[in-house]
Amino acid sequence: MGKILVTGGAGYIGSHTVVELLNKGEEVVIIDNFSNSKKEVLDNIKKITNKDFKFYEINYLDRDAVEKVFEENDIDSVINFAGYKAVGESVQKPLEYYENNIGGAVILLETMKKYNVKKFVFSSSATVYGNPEKVPITEESKIGGTTNPYGTTKLYIEQILQDLYKSDNTWDICILRYFNPVGAHESGLIGEDPKGIPNNLMPYITKVAAGILPELSIFGNDYNTKDGTGVRDYIHVVDLAKGHLLALDKLNKEDNGIFIYNLGTGKGYSVLEMVETFKKVNNVDVPYKIAPRREGDIAECYADPSKAKNELGFEATKNLEDMCRDGWNYQKKQL
Ligand code: WQD
Repeated sequence: MGKILVTGGAGYIGSHTVVELLNKGEEVVIIDNFSNSKKEVLDNIKKITNKDFKFYEINYLDRDAVEKVFEENDIDSVINFAGYKAVGESVQKPLEYYENNIGGAVILLETMKKYNVKKFVFSSSATVYGNPEKVPITEESKIGGTTNPYGTTKLYIEQILQDLYKSDNTWDICILRYFNPVGAHESGLIGEDPKGIPNNLMPYITKVAAGILPELSIFGNDYNTKDGTGVRDYIHVVDLAKGHLLALDKLNKEDNGIFIYNLGTGKGYSVLEMVETFKKVNNVDVPYKIAPRREGDIAECYADPSKAKNELGFEATKNLEDMCRDGWNYQKKQL
């Protein structure tokens, strides 16, 4: 079988997926322009796996460079992680987000078409459900009503993939809607390392625990949830990474199609539960204050994970303690 092209393979979810692919003995080609990642990640992937891969430092908007990758390698399938992902920044810079995320995906798909490579796994997000009518969220739930350009790029790319499949049903596409990926590889060598002040809960908690930031602001404690704070479906990034291997198995085995799966645990935890678990497991303090709600936030979001379980055999194995322990282990190694 040919090689697997991983765009954004030096990024948070991409790097963990590359580790799982290499551990399974797959041949991997990575493209990344380090727009939100570091070169050391590539060395650390090699340290963890003791395996090598081909790497190109290119921007996926550079069509000629992307074509060269397909020219030089026998690519069999593509997993597209590349993309901008900061919700707040996307509100400030919508055109950059649309150009990069959608433009990049279109160039990638056009190049795949040119080289007759038709297996594509796409990193989507639970954000495409907008404000869900009910939880748990199934894949049949209504999509749309995204509250920021980042989320809208995911929604539009999903639509582009649907249109592409309609035009040519020899494509084989898997759309994975991630819930809230957290944690890190247990080696502590790769993890999530956002530039600047983190927007997401887990990296914010680890930076407070490390004393880099003074305290966590909990955005609202008056939601209609178990303790008033927001509830999310946190999934360990290594579980999530393994979901991509199962998605590829599906594309390699079955008849062609366009498939959509939620990747979550099916369990919802509140912000306070997350903070308390983090403190207990790691024996560190996480000072916090209750702050006003954050605009665009919803009260509750968690997956019905049964479709991925039934059709892919996907099941998250790591619990909230594992996520908190591994997230902290990675942060400590960055100090
Ligand atoms: C989780 C909970 C906050 C920070 C976003 C994107 C989504 C996806 C993941 C990724 C909420 C609360 C957070 C803080 C807090 N995108 N919180 N204080 O908002 O569910 O999802 O990231 O690429 O598309 O929308 O994740 O981690 O930001 O928040 O109280 O400092 O933690 O209100 O309830 P969210 P999050």
